[in-house]
Amino acid sequence: MSYDRIEVRPLAGSLGAEIRGVDVRRMDNQTWSEVHQAFLEFRVIAIRDQQLQPDDIMSVSRRFGEPNFYPFVTGMEGYPYIFEIVKEPQETRNFGGGWHSDTTYLAQPPLATVLYALETPAKGGDTLYCNTAAAYDALSDTMKDMLGRLKGVNSAGLKHSGGRASHHKVIGGMKIQGTEQADTYEAIHPIVRTCPDTGRKALYVSRAHTIRFDGMTEDESRPLIEWLQQHQIRPEFTCRVQWEPGTLTVWDNRCTQHSAINDYNGQRRRMQRITVGPQIPA
Ligand code: SIN
Repeated sequence: MSYDRIEVRPLAGSLGAEIRGVDVRRMDNQTWSEVHQAFLEFRVIAIRDQQLQPDDIMSVSRRFGEPNFYPFVTGMEGYPYIFEIVKEPQETRNFGGGWHSDTTYLAQPPLATVLYALETPAKGGDTLYCNTAAAYDALSDTMKDMLGRLKGVNSAGLKHSGGRASHHKVIGGMKIQGTEQADTYEAIHPIVRTCPDTGRKALYVSRAHTIRFDGMTEDESRPLIEWLQQHQIRPEFTCRVQWEPGTLTVWDNRCTQHSAINDYNGQRRRMQRITVGPQIPA
């Protein structure tokens, strides 16, 4: 694919690209088509040097799909779909630290997440991404065949990292809500899903959210879930986005996972996030 209207620079061999030369508030059809193509091709796009208000974030996000509600953080005043991810200098835990795809415990998880950086630490606070389609491709045919017949039970309870309540207690800078209902959010999805836009298969399983394979116990499931998690985050399947104020990153939750690195204690990081494009994984 060639890009005439935007500048596209890959971030790593497997996924991720930095995009320059576009103001997402003013995209003609050709420019939007190239941005969308880059999203499908690179799975994670970091669009630099944007100056966005919440209305602009809503407009550009809607191009990728209809907005989703996030159940566990209150939205911004007047913008219920957008919430702020904030880590204050005195806080030691961050939001989104730990590999996952967003809200896989919903019946229709969002195809994309849009994250806009307002304040970034002088150093640190990057986000890691991995390409779960490349991880799928690297499996043996027998493993692919077996996983293709499995479904995963996904829960919002964060059972394998101490539970959502203990996590929420320590991310004080954010407007947390609904913690007590977390265990009630559960959805069963295929472990291997096919992207309807590209036809590519990808793993859809994470240590954070997948508590077991459907029809199997947690004990039976855990070793393979752990192995698949480690497999997906092999260095050759990853890239890293280094944020700066004005970076707008959009990632494809159907074929990536991400993890926010918590290496900037003593500094403030503030982002605005929205998820869009509810889709039944198939
Ligand atoms: C998340 O949405 O999981 C957080 C990502 C980040 O803050 O970098």
